[in-house]
Amino acid sequence: MQLQQGQLAKIIGLSLGNAFVAIGLPYELGQSGRATKREFGDFQCNGAMAGGKTLGKNPREIATQIAALIAGQTGIEKIEVAGPGFLNIFLEPTLLNNRANEILDDDRAGAEIVPVPRKIVVDYAGPNVAKSMHVGHLRATIIGDSLKRIFRFRGDEVLGDAHFGDWGFQMGLLIASLAQEQPDLPYFDENHTDAYPEISPVTLADLERIYPQAAAKVKVDENYRNEARKATAELQAGRAGYRALWAHFVTVSREALKREFAALGVEFDLWLGESDVDHLIPGMVEDLAKKGILVDDQGAKVVFVHDKMVPAKDGGERPNVPPLLVISSEGSAMYGTTDLATILDRKNRFQAELVLYCVDQRQSEHFETVFRASDKAGYLRRDQLEHIGFGTMNGKDGKPFKTREGGVLKLHDLITMVRTKAADKLQEAGVAKDLPAEERAQIGDMVGIAALKFADLQNFRGTSYVFDLDKFLSFEGKTGPYLLYACVRIKAIMRKAAEQGVIAGEIMIAEEAERELLLTLDGFELALSGAYEKRAPHILADHAYNLAGAFSAFYANCPILAASNGAVRASRLALASATLKQLEIALDLLGIQAPERM
Ligand code: ARG
Repeated sequence: MQLQQGQLAKIIGLSLGNAFVAIGLPYELGQSGRATKREFGDFQCNGAMAGGKTLGKNPREIATQIAALIAGQTGIEKIEVAGPGFLNIFLEPTLLNNRANEILDDDRAGAEIVPVPRKIVVDYAGPNVAKSMHVGHLRATIIGDSLKRIFRFRGDEVLGDAHFGDWGFQMGLLIASLAQEQPDLPYFDENHTDAYPEISPVTLADLERIYPQAAAKVKVDENYRNEARKATAELQAGRAGYRALWAHFVTVSREALKREFAALGVEFDLWLGESDVDHLIPGMVEDLAKKGILVDDQGAKVVFVHDKMVPAKDGGERPNVPPLLVISSEGSAMYGTTDLATILDRKNRFQAELVLYCVDQRQSEHFETVFRASDKAGYLRRDQLEHIGFGTMNGKDGKPFKTREGGVLKLHDLITMVRTKAADKLQEAGVAKDLPAEERAQIGDMVGIAALKFADLQNFRGTSYVFDLDKFLSFEGKTGPYLLYACVRIKAIMRKAAEQGVIAGEIMIAEEAERELLLTLDGFELALSGAYEKRAPHILADHAYNLAGAFSAFYANCPILAASNGAVRASRLALASATLKQLEIALDLLGIQAPERM
Protein backbone atom coordinates (compact mmCIF):
# COMPACT_ATOMS: atom_id res chain seq x y z
CA MET A 1 0.00 0.00 0.00
CA GLN A 2 1.26 3.43 -0.95
CA LEU A 3 1.98 5.61 2.03
CA GLN A 4 0.05 8.83 2.24
CA GLN A 5 1.77 12.08 1.38
CA GLY A 6 1.83 15.37 3.13
CA GLN A 7 2.16 16.86 6.53
CA LEU A 8 2.56 14.22 9.23
CA ALA A 9 0.16 15.75 11.75
CA LYS A 10 -2.51 15.74 9.04
CA ILE A 11 -1.93 12.09 8.15
CA ILE A 12 -2.13 11.02 11.79
CA GLY A 13 -5.13 13.29 12.28
CA LEU A 14 -6.92 11.51 9.46
CA SER A 15 -6.39 8.05 10.93
CA LEU A 16 -7.28 9.17 14.42
CA GLY A 17 -10.22 11.26 13.25
CA ASN A 18 -11.74 8.30 11.43
CA ALA A 19 -11.24 6.12 14.51
CA PHE A 20 -13.09 8.64 16.69
CA VAL A 21 -15.93 8.75 14.17
CA ALA A 22 -16.07 4.94 14.18
CA ILE A 23 -16.90 4.96 17.90
CA GLY A 24 -19.45 7.73 17.53
CA LEU A 25 -17.32 10.75 18.42
CA PRO A 26 -16.46 13.88 16.39
CA TYR A 27 -13.65 13.71 13.82
CA GLU A 28 -11.92 16.78 15.31
CA LEU A 29 -11.00 14.84 18.45
CA GLY A 30 -8.35 13.14 16.35
CA GLN A 31 -6.22 16.29 16.20
CA SER A 32 -2.74 15.77 17.54
CA GLY A 33 0.33 17.83 18.23
CA ARG A 34 4.03 17.20 18.55
CA ALA A 35 4.81 15.14 21.66
CA THR A 36 6.39 17.17 24.43
CA LYS A 37 8.89 14.44 25.37
CA ARG A 38 10.60 11.76 23.36
CA GLU A 39 9.15 8.96 25.48
CA PHE A 40 5.66 10.21 24.56
CA GLY A 41 6.29 9.33 20.92
CA ASP A 42 6.23 11.67 17.91
CA PHE A 43 2.69 12.95 18.25
CA GLN A 44 0.26 13.14 21.14
CA CYS A 45 -3.53 13.20 21.02
CA ASN A 46 -5.73 14.25 23.92
CA GLY A 47 -9.07 13.72 22.16
CA ALA A 48 -10.08 10.79 24.41
CA MET A 49 -10.30 13.18 27.37
CA ALA A 50 -13.07 15.22 25.74
CA GLY A 51 -14.57 12.07 24.22
CA GLY A 52 -14.87 10.52 27.67
CA LYS A 53 -16.85 13.52 28.88
CA THR A 54 -19.19 13.40 25.88
CA LEU A 55 -19.96 9.71 26.23
CA GLY A 56 -19.82 9.64 30.03
CA LYS A 57 -17.10 7.00 29.92
CA ASN A 58 -13.64 6.67 31.33
CA PRO A 59 -11.27 8.44 28.87
CA ARG A 60 -8.78 5.60 29.25
CA GLU A 61 -11.35 3.20 27.94
CA ILE A 62 -11.93 5.40 24.90
CA ALA A 63 -8.21 5.81 24.30
CA THR A 64 -7.80 2.04 24.43
CA GLN A 65 -10.56 1.60 21.84
CA ILE A 66 -8.96 4.17 19.53
CA ALA A 67 -5.52 2.59 19.96
CA ALA A 68 -6.94 -0.79 18.98
CA LEU A 69 -8.47 0.69 15.83
CA ILE A 70 -5.27 2.45 14.82
CA ALA A 71 -2.69 -0.17 15.74
CA GLY A 72 -1.07 -1.71 12.72
CA GLN A 73 -2.21 1.01 10.27
CA THR A 74 0.32 2.03 7.67
CA GLY A 75 2.76 4.54 9.00
CA ILE A 76 2.05 3.91 12.65
CA GLU A 77 4.67 1.90 14.44
CA LYS A 78 3.15 1.93 17.87
CA ILE A 79 0.34 3.64 19.77
CA GLU A 80 0.23 3.75 23.53
CA VAL A 81 -2.34 4.81 26.07
CA ALA A 82 -0.78 6.86 28.83
CA GLY A 83 -1.98 8.40 32.11
CA PRO A 84 -5.67 9.21 32.29
CA GLY A 85 -6.22 8.65 28.56
CA PHE A 86 -3.56 10.30 26.41
CA LEU A 87 -2.56 8.66 23.17
CA ASN A 88 1.13 8.55 22.28
CA ILE A 89 1.84 7.86 18.64
CA PHE A 90 5.14 6.54 17.32
CA LEU A 91 5.64 6.78 13.56
CA GLU A 92 7.14 4.18 11.28
CA PRO A 93 10.54 5.08 9.86
CA THR A 94 9.22 4.75 6.30
CA LEU A 95 6.64 7.44 6.93
CA LEU A 96 9.30 9.76 8.32
CA ASN A 97 11.65 9.04 5.43
CA ASN A 98 8.93 9.60 2.88
CA ARG A 99 8.03 12.93 4.36
CA ALA A 100 11.67 13.99 4.56
CA ASN A 101 12.29 13.22 0.89
CA GLU A 102 9.04 14.87 -0.07
CA ILE A 103 10.15 18.11 1.61
CA LEU A 104 13.57 17.78 0.00
CA ASP A 105 12.09 17.50 -3.49
CA ASP A 106 9.49 20.21 -3.00
CA ASP A 107 10.27 23.76 -4.15
CA ARG A 108 7.96 25.00 -1.43
CA ALA A 109 9.76 22.92 1.23
CA GLY A 110 6.58 21.24 2.40
CA ALA A 111 4.23 24.23 2.40
CA GLU A 112 0.81 23.93 0.81
CA ILE A 113 -1.18 26.42 -1.22
CA VAL A 114 -4.71 27.66 -0.67
CA PRO A 115 -7.34 25.69 -2.60
CA VAL A 116 -9.05 28.84 -3.89
CA PRO A 117 -6.77 31.84 -4.41
CA ARG A 118 -8.22 35.25 -3.66
CA LYS A 119 -7.42 38.73 -4.92
CA ILE A 120 -6.01 40.66 -2.03
CA VAL A 121 -4.72 44.19 -1.57
CA VAL A 122 -2.31 44.87 1.28
CA ASP A 123 -2.33 48.57 2.14
CA TYR A 124 0.82 49.27 4.10
CA ALA A 125 3.48 51.77 5.11
CA GLY A 126 1.23 54.77 4.33
CA PRO A 127 3.94 57.41 3.85
CA ASN A 128 2.97 61.04 3.40
CA VAL A 129 4.02 63.95 1.19
CA ALA A 130 6.46 66.34 2.84
CA LYS A 131 6.85 64.23 5.94
CA SER A 132 9.88 62.04 6.14
CA MET A 133 9.13 58.67 7.61
CA HIS A 134 9.76 58.11 11.28
CA VAL A 135 9.93 55.07 13.51
CA GLY A 136 6.13 54.88 13.52
CA HIS A 137 6.19 53.93 9.86
CA LEU A 138 8.66 51.14 10.50
CA ARG A 139 6.21 48.60 11.89
CA ALA A 140 3.58 49.36 9.23
CA THR A 141 6.23 48.71 6.60
CA ILE A 142 7.83 45.59 8.07
CA ILE A 143 4.61 43.85 9.09
CA GLY A 144 2.75 44.79 5.91
CA ASP A 145 5.58 43.62 3.70
CA SER A 146 5.75 40.27 5.50
CA LEU A 147 2.00 39.73 5.25
CA LYS A 148 2.13 40.52 1.55
CA ARG A 149 4.84 37.90 1.07
CA ILE A 150 3.01 35.30 3.18
CA PHE A 151 -0.28 35.73 1.32
CA ARG A 152 1.44 35.61 -2.03
CA PHE A 153 3.43 32.50 -1.15
CA ARG A 154 0.22 30.84 -0.03
CA GLY A 155 -1.09 31.29 -3.56
CA ASP A 156 -3.28 34.37 -3.38
CA GLU A 157 -3.01 37.11 -5.95
CA VAL A 158 -1.65 39.99 -3.92
CA LEU A 159 -1.01 43.64 -4.63
CA GLY A 160 0.88 45.77 -2.14
CA ASP A 161 -0.09 49.45 -2.22
CA ALA A 162 1.75 52.26 -0.42
CA HIS A 163 -1.43 54.38 -0.22
CA PHE A 164 0.56 57.57 -0.41
CA GLY A 165 -0.86 60.41 1.71
CA ASP A 166 -0.93 63.06 -1.01
CA TRP A 167 -4.33 64.72 -0.77
CA GLY A 168 -6.41 66.47 1.85
CA PHE A 169 -5.70 69.28 4.26
CA GLN A 170 -1.92 68.83 4.53
CA MET A 171 -1.58 69.67 0.85
CA GLY A 172 -3.57 72.88 1.25
CA LEU A 173 -1.48 73.71 4.26
CA LEU A 174 1.76 73.39 2.30
CA ILE A 175 0.39 75.51 -0.52
CA ALA A 176 -0.80 78.21 1.86
CA SER A 177 2.57 78.33 3.64
CA LEU A 178 4.52 78.54 0.43
CA ALA A 179 2.18 81.31 -0.77
CA GLN A 180 3.20 83.31 2.28
CA GLU A 181 6.87 82.50 1.94
CA GLN A 182 7.27 83.00 -1.80
CA PRO A 183 4.16 84.85 -3.06
CA ASP A 184 5.83 85.70 -6.38
CA LEU A 185 5.95 82.14 -7.65
CA PRO A 186 3.88 81.74 -10.83
CA TYR A 187 1.79 79.01 -9.19
CA PHE A 188 -0.04 81.63 -7.13
CA ASP A 189 -0.74 83.98 -10.05
CA GLU A 190 -4.27 83.30 -11.21
CA ASN A 191 -3.58 85.03 -14.52
CA HIS A 192 -0.60 82.87 -15.33
CA THR A 193 -1.24 81.12 -18.65
CA ASP A 194 2.17 79.75 -19.68
CA ALA A 195 3.41 76.32 -18.71
CA TYR A 196 4.71 76.08 -15.14
CA PRO A 197 8.41 75.45 -14.46
CA GLU A 198 9.56 71.86 -14.64
CA ILE A 199 11.97 72.23 -11.77
CA SER A 200 10.46 72.05 -8.32
CA PRO A 201 10.57 75.34 -6.40
CA VAL A 202 11.12 73.31 -3.23
CA THR A 203 13.42 70.50 -2.18
CA LEU A 204 12.52 67.78 0.28
CA ALA A 205 14.49 69.66 2.92
CA ASP A 206 12.28 72.73 2.27
CA LEU A 207 9.13 70.68 2.62
CA GLU A 208 10.37 69.10 5.81
CA ARG A 209 11.09 72.53 7.23
CA ILE A 210 7.84 74.13 6.06
CA TYR A 211 5.47 71.39 7.08
CA PRO A 212 6.08 71.16 10.84
CA GLN A 213 6.10 74.95 11.16
CA ALA A 214 2.84 75.22 9.27
CA ALA A 215 1.28 72.37 11.23
CA ALA A 216 2.11 74.13 14.50
CA LYS A 217 0.93 77.55 13.32
CA VAL A 218 -2.37 76.31 11.99
CA LYS A 219 -3.33 75.11 15.45
CA VAL A 220 -3.22 78.62 16.89
CA ASP A 221 -3.91 80.89 13.94
CA GLU A 222 -7.45 80.79 12.66
CA ASN A 223 -6.86 82.99 9.60
CA TYR A 224 -4.07 80.75 8.58
CA ARG A 225 -6.26 77.70 9.05
CA ASN A 226 -8.90 79.22 6.80
CA GLU A 227 -6.30 79.98 4.15
CA ALA A 228 -5.14 76.37 4.23
CA ARG A 229 -8.71 75.07 4.03
CA LYS A 230 -9.42 77.32 1.09
CA ALA A 231 -6.26 76.19 -0.68
CA THR A 232 -7.24 72.55 -0.07
CA ALA A 233 -10.66 73.06 -1.62
CA GLU A 234 -9.19 74.97 -4.58
CA LEU A 235 -6.55 72.32 -5.18
CA GLN A 236 -9.21 69.64 -5.18
CA ALA A 237 -11.42 71.72 -7.45
CA GLY A 238 -8.56 71.76 -9.96
CA ARG A 239 -6.91 75.19 -9.75
CA ALA A 240 -4.09 74.79 -12.29
CA GLY A 241 -1.26 76.53 -10.41
CA TYR A 242 -2.01 74.61 -7.25
CA ARG A 243 -2.12 71.32 -9.07
CA ALA A 244 1.25 72.03 -10.71
CA LEU A 245 2.80 72.96 -7.40
CA TRP A 246 1.31 69.94 -5.68
CA ALA A 247 2.72 67.67 -8.41
CA HIS A 248 6.20 68.91 -7.44
CA PHE A 249 5.56 68.15 -3.77
CA VAL A 250 4.49 64.63 -4.67
CA THR A 251 7.45 63.86 -6.93
CA VAL A 252 10.06 65.27 -4.58
CA SER A 253 8.64 63.33 -1.64
CA ARG A 254 8.07 60.06 -3.46
CA GLU A 255 11.61 59.84 -4.79
CA ALA A 256 13.04 60.28 -1.30
CA LEU A 257 10.64 57.75 0.17
CA LYS A 258 11.49 55.17 -2.43
CA ARG A 259 15.14 55.38 -1.45
CA GLU A 260 14.24 54.71 2.15
CA PHE A 261 12.06 51.73 1.29
CA ALA A 262 14.84 50.35 -0.89
CA ALA A 263 17.21 50.49 2.08
CA LEU A 264 14.73 48.30 3.94
CA GLY A 265 14.37 45.95 0.99
CA VAL A 266 10.70 46.83 0.58
CA GLU A 267 8.94 47.31 -2.74
CA PHE A 268 5.35 48.08 -3.64
CA ASP A 269 3.36 46.85 -6.60
CA LEU A 270 1.33 50.02 -6.57
CA TRP A 271 2.28 53.51 -5.59
CA LEU A 272 -1.22 54.85 -5.65
CA GLY A 273 -2.11 57.79 -3.52
CA GLU A 274 -5.18 59.34 -2.01
CA SER A 275 -5.24 61.73 -4.95
CA ASP A 276 -5.61 58.89 -7.44
CA VAL A 277 -9.22 58.36 -6.47
CA ASP A 278 -10.17 62.02 -6.54
CA HIS A 279 -11.91 61.63 -9.88
CA LEU A 280 -14.14 58.94 -8.36
CA ILE A 281 -15.40 61.14 -5.56
CA PRO A 282 -18.18 63.10 -7.37
CA GLY A 283 -19.72 59.88 -8.67
CA MET A 284 -19.37 58.23 -5.29
CA VAL A 285 -21.03 61.15 -3.51
CA GLU A 286 -23.88 60.97 -5.99
CA ASP A 287 -24.17 57.24 -5.43
CA LEU A 288 -24.23 57.64 -1.64
CA ALA A 289 -26.93 60.30 -2.00
CA LYS A 290 -28.96 58.10 -4.34
CA LYS A 291 -28.77 55.27 -1.86
CA GLY A 292 -30.17 57.66 0.74
CA ILE A 293 -27.26 57.30 3.16
CA LEU A 294 -25.59 60.69 2.67
CA VAL A 295 -26.90 63.10 5.28
CA ASP A 296 -26.48 66.87 5.66
CA ASP A 297 -24.93 67.65 9.00
CA GLN A 298 -24.18 71.30 9.90
CA GLY A 299 -23.11 72.14 6.35
CA ALA A 300 -21.08 68.97 5.91
CA LYS A 301 -22.12 65.68 4.32
CA VAL A 302 -21.78 62.52 6.36
CA VAL A 303 -22.73 58.85 6.39
CA PHE A 304 -23.94 57.57 9.76
CA VAL A 305 -22.58 54.15 10.60
CA HIS A 306 -23.35 53.66 14.31
CA ASP A 307 -25.67 51.02 15.62
CA LYS A 308 -26.39 52.55 19.01
CA MET A 309 -25.93 55.66 21.10
CA VAL A 310 -23.61 55.60 24.08
CA PRO A 311 -23.09 58.11 26.90
CA ALA A 312 -20.79 60.98 25.89
CA LYS A 313 -18.28 62.76 28.13
CA ASP A 314 -20.39 65.92 28.20
CA GLY A 315 -23.28 64.00 29.76
CA GLY A 316 -25.21 63.69 26.51
CA GLU A 317 -25.12 60.86 24.00
CA ARG A 318 -22.92 60.07 21.02
CA PRO A 319 -22.96 57.38 18.33
CA ASN A 320 -20.85 54.32 19.29
CA VAL A 321 -18.95 54.74 16.00
CA PRO A 322 -18.55 58.29 14.62
CA PRO A 323 -20.06 59.13 11.21
CA LEU A 324 -17.92 59.21 8.08
CA LEU A 325 -17.25 62.81 7.10
CA VAL A 326 -17.52 62.67 3.30
CA ILE A 327 -17.48 66.35 2.35
CA SER A 328 -16.45 69.05 4.83
CA SER A 329 -18.35 72.30 5.11
CA GLU A 330 -15.66 73.91 2.89
CA GLY A 331 -16.41 71.33 0.23
CA SER A 332 -13.25 69.26 0.70
CA ALA A 333 -12.82 65.51 0.51
CA MET A 334 -11.44 64.12 3.75
CA TYR A 335 -9.13 61.26 4.80
CA GLY A 336 -12.13 58.92 5.10
CA THR A 337 -13.54 60.06 1.76
CA THR A 338 -10.44 59.03 -0.13
CA ASP A 339 -10.32 55.79 1.84
CA LEU A 340 -13.90 54.96 0.86
CA ALA A 341 -13.28 55.86 -2.79
CA THR A 342 -10.13 53.72 -2.69
CA ILE A 343 -12.23 50.74 -1.62
CA LEU A 344 -14.45 51.32 -4.62
CA ASP A 345 -11.39 51.57 -6.87
CA ARG A 346 -9.84 48.39 -5.45
CA LYS A 347 -13.10 46.59 -5.99
CA ASN A 348 -13.71 47.80 -9.52
CA ARG A 349 -10.20 47.98 -10.89
CA PHE A 350 -8.57 45.00 -9.15
CA GLN A 351 -11.62 42.92 -8.19
CA ALA A 352 -10.22 42.88 -4.65
CA GLU A 353 -11.96 40.37 -2.42
CA LEU A 354 -10.05 41.26 0.71
CA VAL A 355 -8.14 44.36 1.78
CA LEU A 356 -5.69 44.31 4.68
CA TYR A 357 -4.79 47.69 6.17
CA CYS A 358 -1.54 47.50 8.01
CA VAL A 359 -1.78 50.69 10.04
CA ASP A 360 -1.09 51.74 13.64
CA GLN A 361 -3.65 50.52 16.19
CA ARG A 362 -4.52 54.14 16.99
CA GLN A 363 -6.40 54.50 13.69
CA SER A 364 -8.82 51.70 14.53
CA GLU A 365 -11.84 53.98 14.89
CA HIS A 366 -11.18 55.61 11.53
CA PHE A 367 -11.13 52.22 9.83
CA GLU A 368 -14.20 50.99 11.65
CA THR A 369 -16.04 54.04 10.32
CA VAL A 370 -14.80 53.63 6.75
CA PHE A 371 -15.43 49.85 6.68
CA ARG A 372 -18.98 50.26 7.95
CA ALA A 373 -19.65 52.97 5.39
CA SER A 374 -18.37 50.67 2.63
CA ASP A 375 -20.61 47.87 3.82
CA LYS A 376 -23.60 50.20 4.03
CA ALA A 377 -22.96 51.53 0.53
CA GLY A 378 -22.65 48.00 -0.85
CA TYR A 379 -19.00 48.39 -1.93
CA LEU A 380 -16.91 45.81 -0.09
CA ARG A 381 -18.52 44.00 2.83
CA ARG A 382 -17.33 44.61 6.38
CA ASP A 383 -15.78 41.12 6.48
CA GLN A 384 -13.71 41.86 3.36
CA LEU A 385 -11.93 44.74 5.08
CA GLU A 386 -9.50 44.21 7.92
CA HIS A 387 -7.50 46.62 9.96
CA ILE A 388 -4.26 44.90 10.92
CA GLY A 389 -3.27 47.07 13.86
CA PHE A 390 -0.09 46.88 15.88
CA GLY A 391 1.49 48.26 19.03
CA THR A 392 4.38 50.70 19.21
CA MET A 393 8.12 50.33 19.28
CA ASN A 394 9.08 51.75 22.67
CA GLY A 395 12.15 53.20 24.29
CA LYS A 396 13.63 51.67 27.42
CA ASP A 397 11.26 53.90 29.44
CA GLY A 398 8.31 51.95 28.00
CA LYS A 399 7.01 54.96 26.04
CA PRO A 400 6.99 55.27 22.22
CA PHE A 401 10.58 55.54 21.04
CA LYS A 402 12.11 59.02 21.02
CA THR A 403 15.56 60.38 20.22
CA ARG A 404 17.85 61.38 23.06
CA GLU A 405 16.68 64.96 22.53
CA GLY A 406 13.08 63.81 22.94
CA GLY A 407 12.14 64.17 19.26
CA VAL A 408 10.73 61.65 16.84
CA LEU A 409 13.46 59.57 15.22
CA LYS A 410 13.47 59.71 11.44
CA LEU A 411 13.46 56.34 9.75
CA HIS A 412 16.46 57.38 7.71
CA ASP A 413 18.46 58.11 10.86
CA LEU A 414 17.31 54.87 12.42
CA ILE A 415 18.51 52.86 9.43
CA THR A 416 21.85 54.67 9.43
CA MET A 417 22.24 53.98 13.12
CA VAL A 418 21.44 50.29 12.68
CA ARG A 419 23.90 49.93 9.82
CA THR A 420 26.69 51.59 11.73
CA LYS A 421 26.07 49.48 14.80
CA ALA A 422 25.88 46.32 12.69
CA ALA A 423 29.27 47.08 11.15
CA ASP A 424 30.72 47.55 14.66
CA LYS A 425 29.17 44.30 15.74
CA LEU A 426 30.77 42.38 12.87
CA GLN A 427 34.11 43.79 13.84
CA GLU A 428 33.62 42.99 17.51
CA ALA A 429 32.50 39.41 16.80
CA GLY A 430 35.21 38.92 14.17
CA VAL A 431 32.51 38.04 11.63
CA ALA A 432 33.38 38.44 7.92
CA LYS A 433 36.82 39.71 8.91
CA ASP A 434 38.64 37.94 6.07
CA LEU A 435 36.24 39.10 3.36
CA PRO A 436 36.80 42.06 1.04
CA ALA A 437 35.73 45.39 2.55
CA GLU A 438 32.91 45.90 0.09
CA GLU A 439 31.38 42.52 0.79
CA ARG A 440 31.80 43.05 4.51
CA ALA A 441 29.89 46.32 4.25
CA GLN A 442 27.07 44.59 2.39
CA ILE A 443 26.94 41.86 5.02
CA GLY A 444 26.80 44.52 7.72
CA ASP A 445 23.74 46.05 6.05
CA MET A 446 22.08 42.66 5.74
CA VAL A 447 22.75 41.87 9.37
CA GLY A 448 21.39 45.25 10.43
CA ILE A 449 18.17 44.97 8.44
CA ALA A 450 17.67 41.36 9.55
CA ALA A 451 18.14 42.44 13.16
CA LEU A 452 15.58 45.22 12.85
CA LYS A 453 12.97 43.17 11.01
CA PHE A 454 13.27 40.01 13.06
CA ALA A 455 13.13 41.93 16.34
CA ASP A 456 9.85 43.41 15.18
CA LEU A 457 8.28 40.35 13.60
CA GLN A 458 9.06 37.92 16.39
CA ASN A 459 6.52 39.66 18.64
CA PHE A 460 2.81 39.25 18.17
CA ARG A 461 2.02 42.44 16.28
CA GLY A 462 -0.50 43.64 18.89
CA THR A 463 2.18 43.84 21.56
CA SER A 464 4.57 46.75 21.87
CA TYR A 465 8.26 46.03 22.26
CA VAL A 466 11.36 47.79 23.49
CA PHE A 467 13.98 49.00 21.04
CA ASP A 468 17.28 47.47 22.17
CA LEU A 469 19.74 47.49 19.33
CA ASP A 470 22.46 45.61 21.21
CA LYS A 471 20.08 42.75 21.84
CA PHE A 472 18.66 42.82 18.29
CA LEU A 473 22.16 42.63 16.81
CA SER A 474 23.41 39.76 18.94
CA PHE A 475 24.52 36.63 17.09
CA GLU A 476 23.12 34.59 19.94
CA GLY A 477 19.52 34.16 21.06
CA LYS A 478 16.32 34.72 19.15
CA THR A 479 17.63 37.33 16.72
CA GLY A 480 17.91 38.04 13.02
CA PRO A 481 21.73 37.78 13.01
CA TYR A 482 21.53 34.32 14.67
CA LEU A 483 19.27 33.13 11.87
CA LEU A 484 21.50 34.58 9.17
CA TYR A 485 24.40 32.84 10.81
CA ALA A 486 22.50 29.53 10.75
CA CYS A 487 21.87 29.94 7.00
CA VAL A 488 25.43 30.88 6.26
CA ARG A 489 26.72 27.88 8.20
CA ILE A 490 24.64 25.47 6.11
CA LYS A 491 25.73 27.24 2.92
CA ALA A 492 29.35 26.70 3.96
CA ILE A 493 28.67 22.99 4.45
CA MET A 494 27.10 22.80 1.00
CA ARG A 495 30.11 24.51 -0.55
CA LYS A 496 32.52 22.18 1.20
CA ALA A 497 30.47 19.16 0.12
CA ALA A 498 30.63 20.34 -3.49
CA GLU A 499 34.40 20.75 -3.23
CA GLN A 500 34.70 17.21 -1.89
CA GLY A 501 32.33 15.85 -4.51
CA VAL A 502 29.79 14.70 -1.92
CA ILE A 503 26.30 14.61 -3.41
CA ALA A 504 23.03 14.73 -1.51
CA GLY A 505 21.07 11.49 -1.68
CA GLU A 506 17.99 9.93 -0.21
CA ILE A 507 17.18 10.90 3.36
CA MET A 508 17.09 8.08 5.90
CA ILE A 509 16.10 9.19 9.37
CA ALA A 510 18.02 7.21 11.94
CA GLU A 511 19.32 9.36 14.77
CA GLU A 512 17.24 11.12 17.37
CA ALA A 513 18.41 14.57 16.26
CA GLU A 514 17.56 13.74 12.65
CA ARG A 515 14.08 12.73 13.69
CA GLU A 516 13.66 15.97 15.65
CA LEU A 517 14.87 18.03 12.70
CA LEU A 518 12.47 16.30 10.34
CA LEU A 519 9.51 16.79 12.69
CA THR A 520 10.40 20.48 12.85
CA LEU A 521 10.63 20.71 9.05
CA ASP A 522 7.24 19.03 8.89
CA GLY A 523 5.81 21.79 11.14
CA PHE A 524 6.42 24.48 8.48
CA GLU A 525 2.99 24.09 6.93
CA LEU A 526 1.28 24.46 10.27
CA ALA A 527 3.30 27.59 11.10
CA LEU A 528 2.67 29.11 7.71
CA SER A 529 -1.06 28.47 7.76
CA GLY A 530 -1.20 29.88 11.29
CA ALA A 531 0.63 33.04 10.24
CA TYR A 532 -1.71 33.35 7.27
CA GLU A 533 -4.98 32.76 9.12
CA LYS A 534 -4.10 35.00 12.05
CA ARG A 535 -2.24 37.61 9.99
CA ALA A 536 0.58 37.00 12.42
CA PRO A 537 4.14 36.72 11.04
CA HIS A 538 5.53 35.97 14.51
CA ILE A 539 4.30 32.36 14.16
CA LEU A 540 6.59 32.01 11.17
CA ALA A 541 9.40 33.80 12.99
CA ASP A 542 9.08 31.24 15.80
CA HIS A 543 9.26 28.44 13.28
CA ALA A 544 12.42 29.81 11.67
CA TYR A 545 14.04 30.08 15.09
CA ASN A 546 13.05 26.52 16.07
CA LEU A 547 14.30 25.20 12.77
CA ALA A 548 17.69 26.84 13.23
CA GLY A 549 17.84 25.33 16.72
CA ALA A 550 16.90 21.84 15.51
CA PHE A 551 19.57 22.11 12.84
CA SER A 552 22.20 23.10 15.39
CA ALA A 553 21.36 20.09 17.55
CA PHE A 554 21.46 17.83 14.50
CA TYR A 555 24.81 19.19 13.36
CA ALA A 556 26.29 18.82 16.82
CA ASN A 557 25.24 15.18 17.04
CA CYS A 558 25.39 13.95 13.47
CA PRO A 559 28.56 14.71 11.54
CA ILE A 560 27.76 15.33 7.90
CA LEU A 561 30.88 15.28 5.78
CA ALA A 562 32.79 13.39 8.43
CA ALA A 563 30.30 10.53 8.51
CA SER A 564 32.08 7.33 7.59
CA ASN A 565 29.25 5.72 5.63
CA GLY A 566 28.62 7.18 2.16
CA ALA A 567 24.85 6.75 2.25
CA VAL A 568 24.67 8.40 5.68
CA ARG A 569 26.78 11.28 4.39
CA ALA A 570 24.49 11.73 1.40
CA SER A 571 21.39 11.51 3.58
CA ARG A 572 22.61 14.06 6.11
CA LEU A 573 23.71 16.42 3.39
CA ALA A 574 20.23 16.16 1.89
CA LEU A 575 18.68 16.90 5.26
CA ALA A 576 20.89 19.97 5.56
CA SER A 577 19.89 21.07 2.08
CA ALA A 578 16.17 20.70 2.86
CA THR A 579 16.69 22.73 6.03
CA LEU A 580 18.48 25.50 4.17
CA LYS A 581 15.74 25.69 1.57
CA GLN A 582 13.00 25.94 4.15
CA LEU A 583 14.91 28.39 6.33
CA GLU A 584 15.56 30.68 3.39
CA ILE A 585 11.91 30.59 2.38
CA ALA A 586 10.78 31.32 5.93
CA LEU A 587 13.21 34.24 6.21
CA ASP A 588 12.21 35.56 2.81
CA LEU A 589 8.59 35.59 4.00
CA LEU A 590 9.76 37.80 6.84
CA GLY A 591 11.50 40.05 4.31
CA ILE A 592 14.97 38.88 5.38
CA GLN A 593 17.82 37.87 3.04
CA ALA A 594 20.88 35.93 4.10
CA PRO A 595 24.37 36.53 2.66
CA GLU A 596 26.30 33.72 0.94
CA ARG A 597 29.02 33.77 3.53
CA MET A 598 30.23 35.80 6.48
N1 ARG B 1 -0.88 58.20 5.56
C1 ARG B 1 -1.57 57.70 6.71
C2 ARG B 1 -0.90 58.20 7.99
O1 ARG B 1 0.25 58.55 8.00
C3 ARG B 1 -1.64 56.20 6.75
C4 ARG B 1 -2.39 55.59 5.60
C5 ARG B 1 -2.96 54.26 5.95
N2 ARG B 1 -3.79 53.70 4.93
C6 ARG B 1 -5.03 54.06 4.66
N3 ARG B 1 -5.67 53.46 3.68
N4 ARG B 1 -5.62 55.01 5.34
O2 ARG B 1 -1.54 58.21 9.02
